[in-house]
Amino acid sequence: MTSALAKIEDFPSDPVEFFKQILQAAAEGHPEGFMQEMNLATVDEEFGVLNRTVLYRGLTADNFVFYITHRYTRNFKNLQANPKACITFYMPDVKDQAGKDTTWQVRLIGATAVELPQDEMDGLWAKENLASQIRGHICPCGEPINYDDLKAKHDKFLQEHSGKSIERPASYTAWQFQPQRWDFLKVGLNEIADRVQYRLQSNGKWESMHIAT
Ligand SMILES: Cc1cc2nc3c(=O)[nH]c(=O)nc-3n(C[C@H](O)[C@H](O)[C@H](O)COP(=O)(O)O)c2cc1C
Repeated sequence: MTSALAKIEDFPSDPVEFFKQILQAAAEGHPEGFMQEMNLATVDEEFGVLNRTVLYRGLTADNFVFYITHRYTRNFKNLQANPKACITFYMPDVKDQAGKDTTWQVRLIGATAVELPQDEMDGLWAKENLASQIRGHICPCGEPINYDDLKAKHDKFLQEHSGKSIERPASYTAWQFQPQRWDFLKVGLNEIADRVQYRLQSNGKWESMHIAT
């Protein structure tokens, strides 16, 4: 049995730069294409708190994490009613500089959701894959469905739109998140994790510090 204390070294003063570095290292083992998911927790009137997995779509021009959804989902309605959210990224196979496997957790704490401007939606819609575009038109998210009915609807939609572009539904939208804190946790096998937390100061600058796990 062995034990060690993980150490996060040489982290940049800007948390977004740090996040980009870790994301890049996480993507390195996946040259065939890399998708990063994130867990989004929102305040829900019925359940108190509600979380789900969503796809990380990148950073906005202002360096805010964003994801895409539809206005008919509960995640959209939750954020509309209460924009406070928390996001967790889990990156289990990131090689450090010495080639050792490490796991990272990155959290956006006290994040405020702000909807992306609608004039950015056409560009994002054009990059969606066909299944996502069809889903946006035929799925009553969260409602009970009959598989055969939905399949018939899907197949009809697919056939009718063969070779044609699919119109962006008005429900299609995206949220960006402005966090109060970024929390980075690093751990390896048989190690006690290290954490670095960035806290937004009232002057708009980030203060960073190691935090006990
Ligand atoms: C890998 C993965 C990626 C997903 N990406 C998204 C996404 O980007 N946007 C989204 O609205 N739902 C996404 N979902 C579906 C959500 O997890 C969730 O089921 C759906 O949004 C309805 O959740 P709600 O009732 O909390 O709104 C994804 C699910 C998985 C498993």
